[in-house]
Amino acid sequence: MSRDRQLHLGAFMRPVGIHTAWWRYPGGYPDANFNFEHLTHFARRLEAAKFDAFFMADHLAVMNMPVAALRRSATVTSFDPLTLLPALAALTSRIGLIATASTTYNEPYHVARKFASLDHISRGRAGWNLVTSGNPDEALNFGRDAHLDHAVRYARAREFYDVVTGLWDSWADDAFLMDPESGLFFDPEKMHVLDHQGAFLKVKGPLNVARPVQGWPVIVQAGASEAGKQIAAATAEMVFGASATLEAAQAYYSDVKGRMPELGRDPDHLKILPGALVILGETEAEAQAKRARLDDLVHPDSGLANLSVRLGVDASGFDLDAPLPEIPETNASKTS
Ligand SMILES: Cc1cc2nc3c(=O)[nH]c(=O)nc-3n(C[C@H](O)[C@H](O)[C@H](O)COP(=O)(O)O)c2cc1C
Repeated sequence: MSRDRQLHLGAFMRPVGIHTAWWRYPGGYPDANFNFEHLTHFARRLEAAKFDAFFMADHLAVMNMPVAALRRSATVTSFDPLTLLPALAALTSRIGLIATASTTYNEPYHVARKFASLDHISRGRAGWNLVTSGNPDEALNFGRDAHLDHAVRYARAREFYDVVTGLWDSWADDAFLMDPESGLFFDPEKMHVLDHQGAFLKVKGPLNVARPVQGWPVIVQAGASEAGKQIAAATAEMVFGASATLEAAQAYYSDVKGRMPELGRDPDHLKILPGALVILGETEAEAQAKRARLDDLVHPDSGLANLSVRLGVDASGFDLDAPLPEIPETNASKTS
């Protein structure tokens, strides 16, 4: 039974392209990840093309590969998403603005405040890509010697979500009287003090930003491990899928959505957006030729290092002409 359904399109801005060698391609934008004019141009083009969302990925570390490879990577620097997106909000009017924020290396009060502010500044277009940080190196930038364990990261993320959404509920939509006559600025009856005490977090509240325009900014997720799927089913309105085959994507879709009724959620309230790397050409052959040229621009050091990051293990000793050996589960991402 087919139903008229709306296709949703999100643009994954990492910072500007996901292919390792995009910046070397003739006509590419090598400086795009720190060129505000380029990013504004992209956001406006995507808005004009009726994309639903401009999604800004984020990592809180640089050193995730050997310098021999890192020196060839265009992703070493990028703007802080929650600094860039408010600026883009002022230069666009309809496109959704999704920023990534880690629940492992942030405080919920900061995260709640920044997304509430973005939602007001953008007139209700904010989204939060809730990640637990797959990059172990991030721990070293936050006073830790080792990355939090995968299961602990997700348990903290689940509580973190409750605190942030609780803080967004600090003020009722009509809490602010702003009545010069009576001198009352707000109605205390319409202020909610969270007073959260949990296994990982202790946060009193209320938040010092009025209730977001949307109520809650859109919650986005991308995990695919058991813990990742469970938190997506419990909290997300949008999930980025990264399945390699149609069958795997369909299995992921029914797995995550299948969990929702038991969690009291309507499966239609979650949109799953599978990832696609799109290369355009006037003809199939032209597009394939572009792809081949792009792949040729990947230096072996970069290819190997990115493979290691994706697998969460050092692939430098692998026989490149042989099938991948058995990859042990690691504390980084369980699926990537
Ligand atoms: C499309 C997509 C975008 C992602 N963006 C980020 C990101 O910006 N920052 C980040 O730390 N992880 C990002 N991730 C990684 C996920 O948050 C997660 O760590 C990964 O999918 C592994 O999930 P798992 O721990 O459930 O196995 C992204 C994953 C996907 C599929």
